[in-house]
Amino acid sequence: MKFKESMKTLNAIEIIVRKRDQVELSTEQIYWFIQEYTNGHIPDYQAAAWLMAVQLNGMTRRETVDLTMAMVESGDRINLSGIVPFAVDKHSTGGVGDKTSLVVLPIVAACGVPVAKMSGRSLGHTGGTIDKLESFRGFQVELSPERFKQLAKENHLVIASQTSNIAPADKSLYALRDVTATVPSIPLIASSIMSKKLAGGADAIVLDVKVGEGAFTRTIDEARTLAQTMVDIGVDAGKAVTAVLADMTQPLGTTAGNAIEVHEAIDTMRGEGPSDFLEHCIVIAAHMLELVPNTDYYHNFEAAKQAARQSIDDGSALSKFRQLVHAQGGDPNQVDNPYLLPQARIQDTIAASQAGYVTRIDARQIGRAVVDLGGGREKKGEMIDHAVGVETLVKIGDHVDAGDLLFRLHANDENRMAMALGWIEQHVITISPSPTESLPQFYGTIKGHPA
Ligand code: URA
Repeated sequence: MKFKESMKTLNAIEIIVRKRDQVELSTEQIYWFIQEYTNGHIPDYQAAAWLMAVQLNGMTRRETVDLTMAMVESGDRINLSGIVPFAVDKHSTGGVGDKTSLVVLPIVAACGVPVAKMSGRSLGHTGGTIDKLESFRGFQVELSPERFKQLAKENHLVIASQTSNIAPADKSLYALRDVTATVPSIPLIASSIMSKKLAGGADAIVLDVKVGEGAFTRTIDEARTLAQTMVDIGVDAGKAVTAVLADMTQPLGTTAGNAIEVHEAIDTMRGEGPSDFLEHCIVIAAHMLELVPNTDYYHNFEAAKQAARQSIDDGSALSKFRQLVHAQGGDPNQVDNPYLLPQARIQDTIAASQAGYVTRIDARQIGRAVVDLGGGREKKGEMIDHAVGVETLVKIGDHVDAGDLLFRLHANDENRMAMALGWIEQHVITISPSPTESLPQFYGTIKGHPA
């Protein structure tokens, strides 16, 4: 009550001035600003000025945690206690061909740890799990809170789209950041991501922080700062958090699109997928498992890795995935035979015009090509074509001969196919006479535990 009364004396201009002049904001000022913006009492133009001041002057650790928690408290908080014994969540900062959740979540559930996850859709050059799952006929991504909890309890695996009232302040601020050049700010990105994870009811979180051309953070230093900021927020909020820095210079695995990524995820769960993608999934799943108390994996990364690998070898991860698809209204025959997933009408390939070494593949430009083919969206709410996409058949460091296939494109429209072929030929790949090293998959891990 006391807090609320003193909040009445605050005003938006003063808070913008303080941030502009590099004066640290108090907890009360941050909570008030976020609350008043969410209620519609602070207009977008004042929020935009404040965001730009944050973009230019940054935030302290305390301010960033306050901003995160103010955004958490702007809406509903999912309470999974009593539904799952311990809720471990994962989040990827976004990439091209990043179908990790489709494999990691069934692995974790097959290892006996329930997963109840809310995921997002594709935006810009990056893909989204929810769109990928909608490649299955009839798959329901919008679940009532009761159904979400029931599936978590009964099947130990549920993936749904985020409800509108999870961190609504973040939703409005993110839309404003998108049009005011204030997306690439470490405290704003970190608080945006962590507010959704914390409101989603996570007890522990694994962050798959992407580094490289296809990611938000293009350098290892930037990615490390973002990862550390998110770990600090989680720890200050009382959660164990592990952040893995993972390469996103080139696409993960082979495919980028929707149905073709689902197909590759199924192949991977059958033990027939690309080795880099399988290794990525095993590592992320093991980091999730080792955070869960009262299990054989707790603080035992090697045991967790072994169990994750076993769930692929014995088919239990694939069975969990099939159960997920069936339970959410999808057609499990498409899991048994992924060629029943949407197929594009036209396929075309790009071959190497000369022999040499692949020295550059630009994941961001592949993501752009997928959007141009109709497989992604520029604006929220746009329809997408689940069948289209791009397969990248080589990796940086590979040697190729003239005529070797580099890319296979899937399209439903001749003009879009022609444009995407031209774009990829011009912007995506460099083949040079001198060799180059292949890229590491991981650049480090940052762990944080609450005291
Ligand atoms: N993803 C988010 O959810 N928020 C950001 O600010 C950036 C990426």
